[in-house]
Amino acid sequence: MKDYDVVDIKGKKFLYSPQVEDHFFNPRNVLDDKTDLGQFNASAEIGAPACGDVMKVYLLIDPKTEKILDFRWKTFGCASAIASTSVLSEMAIGKTIDKAYNISAQDITKALGGLPQKKIHCSVLGDQALRRAIDDYKKHYLGVK
Ligand code: FES
Repeated sequence: MKDYDVVDIKGKKFLYSPQVEDHFFNPRNVLDDKTDLGQFNASAEIGAPACGDVMKVYLLIDPKTEKILDFRWKTFGCASAIASTSVLSEMAIGKTIDKAYNISAQDITKALGGLPQKKIHCSVLGDQALRRAIDDYKKHYLGVK
């Protein structure tokens, strides 16, 4: 067994993909304690009903181009949530908010080379938070209700 295998309470083994392993051990665009939150113009926090974990997302959106210039995140979730949001942050930066809004959980799972079925709920935390942050931006900066 490789050391990144996961065993559930019934002894069933999961093997995470190399992409999940890479993003878990080297997460991209994580919010750290030194980050100035004042530089962002949109944010959201999402809770996962399935496990009680939490995801926070902060965006810097260019008002002229509506492109996402920066995407920072922090989670109190598992390896799948970390890897999913890490790869999502890379996918979203540089996209317009409309294109980023349409990044699906399937897109994320595909970019990670797949996830165990029981971990799919973790992969939606980041994209749900992203959409809520974009909604937050539209409400506060564009007056969309
Ligand atoms: Fe909670 Fe994965 S188990 S985010």
